Amino acid sequence: MTDTTTSERILIIDFGSQVTQLIARRVRESGVYCEVHPFNRVDKDSIEKFTPKGIILSGGPASVTEGDSPRAPDGVFEMGLPILGICYGEQTMVEQLGGKVVMSDHREFGRAFVDVLDNCPLFDGVWARGDREQVWMSHGDRIESIPEGFQPVATSENAPYAAIANERKNLYGVQFHVEVVHTPHGAQLLKNFTHGICGCSGSWTMAAFREQEIAKVRAQVGSGRVICALSGGVDSSVVAVLLHEAIGEQLTCVFVDTGMMRAREADEVVTLFRDHYNISLIHSDASEMFLSNLEGVSDPEQKRKIIGATFIDVFDAEAKTIGGADFLAQGTLYPDVIESVSFTGGPSVTIKSHHNVGGLPERMNMTLVEPLRELFKDEVRALGRELGLPEAFVKRHPFPGPGLAIRLPGEITFERLEILRKADAIYLEEIRNAGLYDAIWQAFAVLLPVQTVGVMGDGRTYEYVCALRAVTSSDGMTADYYPFDHEFLGRTVNRIINEVRGINRVVYDITSKPPGTIEWE
Ligand code: XMP
Repeated sequence: MTDTTTSERILIIDFGSQVTQLIARRVRESGVYCEVHPFNRVDKDSIEKFTPKGIILSGGPASVTEGDSPRAPDGVFEMGLPILGICYGEQTMVEQLGGKVVMSDHREFGRAFVDVLDNCPLFDGVWARGDREQVWMSHGDRIESIPEGFQPVATSENAPYAAIANERKNLYGVQFHVEVVHTPHGAQLLKNFTHGICGCSGSWTMAAFREQEIAKVRAQVGSGRVICALSGGVDSSVVAVLLHEAIGEQLTCVFVDTGMMRAREADEVVTLFRDHYNISLIHSDASEMFLSNLEGVSDPEQKRKIIGATFIDVFDAEAKTIGGADFLAQGTLYPDVIESVSFTGGPSVTIKSHHNVGGLPERMNMTLVEPLRELFKDEVRALGRELGLPEAFVKRHPFPGPGLAIRLPGEITFERLEILRKADAIYLEEIRNAGLYDAIWQAFAVLLPVQTVGVMGDGRTYEYVCALRAVTSSDGMTADYYPFDHEFLGRTVNRIINEVRGINRVVYDITSKPPGTIEWE
């Protein structure tokens, strides 16, 4: 368990639900620090050390009616801590405390309505006896009887024990998912648990986090030197500004221009950090080296490998010019380090590891500094604002490490990169002009290695096809295409064809993810 400096913490025990991370987000949005840990990685001792103010048991895909299904750690219900079980979490609590869960023919998925049977601290301020309330359900099993000391406080047609409470012991269970937006009062119910029942005050703010992280970084780094690879994306920008505030001149940032950046990107990043923050910054223009290493390569994975290896060479060489460093700062986020419970074969616990500049720490014998590893992406944006980063940086769409290389299917040449840069810049300008930038998760142009016949003026053209992509998403794991109106698309396509030599046809990609991916390669 990572953080022990924040005094008010909630522990979320994960049983493998797809939406466990949403519980964490909702809890943090109410100003309470929390961590997610897999059910099989926590026990009474580790929980005691973590000193949570309360515990939330997540949902999960297993059935408590099966013999080897997951359980909450032994003794957890006797620790005197408030506990809220959600869906599978409620069912395992019921089973472990002497109630009964059975398989049911009536599954209940999606929107449902519960009747509130009684007032309860979980419902304070939102639900009262006699109300009928909308919730979101996703369960097959049904609770048949509840343990001694509990009483039903809400019921639905297919879930007689839709919410149960043992107020004396501060144990609560809900069959529905309070963490999803389809349970309209869900966030308030969770807040009632964390604030009203567990007694948290909601003092975990970005201002507090900033102070806490600065102190941590100072303690970790001492008088050592830190180097940070700056990409211009939100994460590395926030890391750089936070570290600069913490350790000032001990920090050097390196911006590697791979030649595969978007139009004006290198200038914008360098100007911001050098001129506005006075952060020591090496601007390494390595575009020729990247392009020559990529000559003749069209396989997407090969491209990624070559770019990664070249990046390490360039970064390593630049680091040597300042006499090396003891620490490497990275913008690793919480979803990258969270341990997830997997029921789909393979090892039961998968640890996602994320190395923005993979291979570097080992090669250069450096220790990692990862000040964002407890934050979700939207919290990084909030921290960026707290640190005074301009809105244009805070709200930037994500941009992949390999850059435009994976938006140019086929071989990469300087000429094709230039065509793509121009089309991409027009597309983003139109999106901004239409006020749509913030409504879109990521938007970009792709230049296909396909030429088609067109007619311009009186002449025949034979030029490239450009594809436009724009998606909405909350985490990049799933995505949907953005539904532009035809007028917007018509205007943008017209501009691209008229202003960019080399493109005579534009298509709009309406593939969702899955089955597509966001990038084309
Ligand atoms: P996909 O294409 O997998 O993309 O749906 C999901 C998100 O990840 C970004 N992406 C990458 N980021 N290196 C990166 O740093 C990569 O190789 C890479 N490939 C995809 C993509 O832009 C999207 O935000």
